[in-house]
Amino acid sequence: MPGLKGPSDYSQEPPRHPSLKINAKQPFNAEPPRSALIASYVTPVDFFYKRNHGPIPVVDDIERYSVLIRGLIDNPRELFMRDIKMLPKYNVTATLQCAGNRRTAMSKVKTVKGVGWDVSAIGNGVWGGAKLADVLELVGISKLTSTTKSGGKHVEFVSIDKCKEENGGPYKASIPLSRATNPDADVVIAYEMNGEPLNRDHGYPLRVVVPGVIGARSVKWLDCINIIAEESQGFFMQKDYKMFPPSVNWDNIDWSTSRPQMDFPVQSAICSLEDVTAIKPGKVKVSGYAASGGGRGIDRVDVSVDGGKTWVEASRYQKPGAQYISDDMNSDKWAWVLFDVTVDAPQSTEIVVKAVDSAANIQPENVQEIWNLRGILNTSWHRVQVRVGHSNM
Ligand code: MTE
Repeated sequence: MPGLKGPSDYSQEPPRHPSLKINAKQPFNAEPPRSALIASYVTPVDFFYKRNHGPIPVVDDIERYSVLIRGLIDNPRELFMRDIKMLPKYNVTATLQCAGNRRTAMSKVKTVKGVGWDVSAIGNGVWGGAKLADVLELVGISKLTSTTKSGGKHVEFVSIDKCKEENGGPYKASIPLSRATNPDADVVIAYEMNGEPLNRDHGYPLRVVVPGVIGARSVKWLDCINIIAEESQGFFMQKDYKMFPPSVNWDNIDWSTSRPQMDFPVQSAICSLEDVTAIKPGKVKVSGYAASGGGRGIDRVDVSVDGGKTWVEASRYQKPGAQYISDDMNSDKWAWVLFDVTVDAPQSTEIVVKAVDSAANIQPENVQEIWNLRGILNTSWHRVQVRVGHSNM
């Protein structure tokens, strides 16, 4: 809507925490230090990774800000903030993870294209807002609908920000209508993050959060919602965020042979140690996160102090003081678990972690097997080296 949304340029970027590691300045992409991720179950907004494909837009007139819902429906409608806020409010605790998390390690095998990320392009937030299933009811789409009368099967989210990959057009992505109208999928149109109004970096005034799915589908700065017959033809659905085998390169790639990635696979990483950490001989605390997609819980986290020959099981937790049981009603099904275990490291070694989800999916041992030209979904065993020394440590 012209005039409503302010200019998108890099001179208007918001202030950020100085300890963030900036992976790219324009567009702004940054992740927190590893240690910040294990300091709390819910990741503070300041330490939540920021992943952008264009400049952060400014929405300066919240009274006039609206989201248009249109497409293959009978009653298109313009919804204002007050319409969204009138719907029942839900707080969904969900982990967002960029598909490019841990890309830097993948690029060490062979060059990949994309912003380099260590292990912190992930965070666990409490997203407050309306359920998309309730929002869609306002335009006459009932719960658990997979096709509208006029043939709508997908829900496309179009943003305000402008990206060069879209030739200056807006960022967009879609999810199937069946997921969007399923209240149990917990897809939210969020106006709050961790109990505070969303800030500009994370999508103010409204963003979509699609739990259990790669972060790319959780569109920030929502402008309109289109009900469409096919999945979104946007760049980030059709020419990016797709998984390919190691044999596919930039000369032989046929993007149409792979589906847009949705659920993220089982993942874990050590956050208490850097890639190489010098320690004294003896006990070392190994802690980090594990998460899986599609609402699957984490059944086990294994840690090895001998490069993967033998393993010990780490303890897993979510909310402090409560026992974590995967896929239990009292667990947060869309959220990560944190883990820790204290191990003996008498000499220099490689410490490794792998997680198993509730469908018994397990992380692949080596990054080589899952290397792909865009460097996405590096879920290989996470390895860190400890150098054990006896003096001046
Ligand atoms: N939405 C818009 N409008 N523009 C973007 O660049 N990046 C996506 C997604 N939504 C993006 C977007 C990607 S790739 C990820 S991983 C998440 O937002 C990151 O969300 P965050 O910056 O709040 O952590």
